[in-house]
Amino acid sequence: MLNNKSILIIGAGISGITAAVSLIKSQFTNVIILEAENRIGGRIETVSFANGFIDLGAQWCQGEKGNSVYELCKNEFKFGTTGWLNGTGFVPVASSGEIDVEKILRLEELRQEILLKYDEMKKSKVSIGEFFEEKFYDALKTSQFQDIDEKLADMFLGFWQREFNSLFASTNWYDVSSKLYPILETCEGQQDLTWRQYGFKTLFDIIQKDLPKSIKLEEKILLNKKVTKINWSNEKVIVQTEDNSVYSADNIIITIPLGYLQAHHMNIFYPKLPDSKIKAIECIKVGTLGKVFLEFEECFWNRDNDDFVMYAFLWTKEDLEQIIDTDKEWLTHILGFIKVDSHPNLLEGLLSGDKMREFETYSNDKIISDCMWMLEKFLKRSLPRPIAMRRTKWLTRENFLGSYTYLSMKSADENITSDDLATSIKSKNNKPVLLFSGEATHKRYQGYVHGALDSGKRAAQEIIDFYSSKSKL
Ligand SMILES: Cc1cc2nc3c(=O)[nH]c(=O)nc-3n(C[C@H](O)[C@H](O)[C@H](O)COP(=O)(O)OP(=O)(O)OC[C@H]3O[C@@H](n4cnc5c(N)ncnc54)[C@H](O)[C@@H]3O)c2cc1C
Ligand SMILES: *[C@@H]1O[C@H](CO)[C@@H](O)[C@H](O)[C@H]1NC(C)=O
Ligand SMILES: *[C@@H]1O[C@H](CO)[C@@H](O)[C@H](O)[C@H]1NC(C)=O
Ligand SMILES: *[C@@H]1O[C@H](CO)[C@@H](O)[C@H](O)[C@H]1NC(C)=O
Repeated sequence: MLNNKSILIIGAGISGITAAVSLIKSQFTNVIILEAENRIGGRIETVSFANGFIDLGAQWCQGEKGNSVYELCKNEFKFGTTGWLNGTGFVPVASSGEIDVEKILRLEELRQEILLKYDEMKKSKVSIGEFFEEKFYDALKTSQFQDIDEKLADMFLGFWQREFNSLFASTNWYDVSSKLYPILETCEGQQDLTWRQYGFKTLFDIIQKDLPKSIKLEEKILLNKKVTKINWSNEKVIVQTEDNSVYSADNIIITIPLGYLQAHHMNIFYPKLPDSKIKAIECIKVGTLGKVFLEFEECFWNRDNDDFVMYAFLWTKEDLEQIIDTDKEWLTHILGFIKVDSHPNLLEGLLSGDKMREFETYSNDKIISDCMWMLEKFLKRSLPRPIAMRRTKWLTRENFLGSYTYLSMKSADENITSDDLATSIKSKNNKPVLLFSGEATHKRYQGYVHGALDSGKRAAQEIIDFYSSKSKL
């Protein structure tokens, strides 16, 4: 009975693959995934670099309790960690070369306390940037911090903003709603579990493991199939791809990244989507996180600290002013350079901000020279040039147009959450015709792999429930 229902999934990222696996396990065999790229994985993209693998997209399994990626893999895979985000190996360096590490570590402790003020954030109407700033400057007025001058406080706050932007892919923390601040709901446990030398692609092997032996998932995935039209005017939905192939199906699961949907939804859907859906597509923000991996002949960073995890960059106002409005401005987005698990000779820079388009269009040579200019400026010594470099381009890659999503002040003003994006569109007889899944549709774990995975399961389940309730009638 169920076998003859045809289901099309658009996008072979973790959300689409999870949906397919769930459907196949529930006896739906007529499932096809259409993927625009020439590979599966989407924003999980493990590539060869420096005698091993690195991740250009998702890199860490963030949290344990309630994290479906962790739960699925914990018995199959031994995760590593970098120690990032848990306070160890934090090496603050200043553009002036002078830094009082003891004071910075005290400010870092204060920051960790403020980050936990969830109940107040939930009630707050201001942006997360304003919220943090107010708490921070209020605390600095107390006697405990009377030895911290304004200059140092501002330098630290700049770092905090850069780290925040890198975690949430936001361009500006005054644009993120504190009420909807997603970290409220992160999973407990280590936030920086790594896939060691194997990379995040390992997840795709583990996820297929308990499929029936007779089913080959790769036969269900069609690569280089970019969907250009979805005609849902009839019971059978008709989907067209760029190469003019045509497919029809009873249900469509759309996992296309929100950045792509924002740019193209008006041309893809016929009839056009309901206004409520369009509003959700337009009100949730898509940010861009960038990465630069530098490979060196040998590691030079343990000289500064045996437990080295990260150089945290603190800019003085004067040094910042020198490069704002120059072609080095993009460097002011880099929060610092961190070490990479299982890669002793790599440093990784993370960045997000309003100069991401520039970053993505600059040449490799410029990126290397600029990074080295910055590292030498902060470490105040001359350093060897890297032997290789790899950087990301999520904002300008046509099938992504961004890295991941967050709820902005606009989302809060318009009362839009990921649920509005997730709601499926039903036909007259209540059949879910267009279902939406993917990272952006998950209310608690938006922006994470586990959020995308859960959302794929949720969409598949909605289809399974619909047909099983019908067959009972
Ligand atoms: C730089 C970066 C770092 C990240 N770091 C982490 C991290 O450390 N931890 C974490 O948990 N998460 C992280 N994330 C987020 C995580 O990668 C995503 O939330 C998750 O992978 C999204 O999966 P998805 O299935 O929703 O979308 P995707 O993986 O993007 O899958 C959607 C697919 O749709 C395809 N597509 C687009 N347009 C079309 C079309 N017209 N027709 C057909 N197919 C189309 C795309 O090619 C893509 O393969 C990171 C993301 C990025 C970019
Ligand atoms: C942080 O992570 C490192 C590396 O796994 C670990 O050795 C250390 O104990 C952790 N520290 C805290 C405070 O959790
Ligand atoms: C959509 O499909 C219907 C038939 O199911 C067809 O009549 C109509 O012309 C199609 N519209 C577009 C814009 O493709
Ligand atoms: C916001 O949206 C939710 C769910 O759609 C609704 O229940 C609530 O009443 C709305 N609130 C406002 C202030 O419009």
